[in-house]
Amino acid sequence: MPSKLWVLFCKVHITQGDHVGKAVIVSWVTQDEPGSSNAFYWTDNSTEKYSAEGSYLTYRYYNYSSGFIHHCTMDNLEYNTKYYYEVGVGNTTRKFWFITPPPVGPDVPYTFGLIGDLGQTSHSNSTLTHYQMNPMNGQTMLYLGDFSYADNYPFHDNVRWDTWGRFIERSTASQPWIWTAGNHEIDLAPEIELVPRKDSGDTNPSGINFYNLNGIAEAGVVAPLVKRLK
Ligand SMILES: [Fe+2]
Repeated sequence: MPSKLWVLFCKVHITQGDHVGKAVIVSWVTQDEPGSSNAFYWTDNSTEKYSAEGSYLTYRYYNYSSGFIHHCTMDNLEYNTKYYYEVGVGNTTRKFWFITPPPVGPDVPYTFGLIGDLGQTSHSNSTLTHYQMNPMNGQTMLYLGDFSYADNYPFHDNVRWDTWGRFIERSTASQPWIWTAGNHEIDLAPEIELVPRKDSGDTNPSGINFYNLNGIAEAGVVAPLVKRLK
């Protein structure tokens, strides 16, 4: 059984936060109250903690109301360095770690994982486990689209995004996943009206609605299609 803490404060994921590998964006969701959007981070061999200030948003989709979705950018990171980071307040604090990439160059060894069409079945679990157990040890995931398959559920039940986020947290909290969208992230159900996000001013001129990726779209360094998601 998951702990209460895990249920209340989950879906921690990181993605690359700049173009050269010196920043990481961490995102997470708190359920009952916003709490803090700040993150603390420090290197493996130092106890000096840096802090970064984040922000949060919420969204509604049909009969679904999201939790508080936090994003925080940890920057000025050193290359090839293990960092611990901590988010949350009081007894909801959670700690994770990641390793930054080497400097950009013409011949830099780096291992990417590739996964698409993951979903959230026993096969999905098997796929992610294979990836995590592989001795090749992927350092960053390039995710090829088709995430939660929420569109297979009535009203494209966004709770399926929550359950999917919890499922993948065991990898996404400790290595960057870089996202692109697949056809299952496109909402072609005209009877469902997407509530525009307050901060976006987006009037959705295309007439096509896209899924909210629980903050993934706000990462700022992902493909234009993903950036268009809301
Ligand atoms: Fe697919």
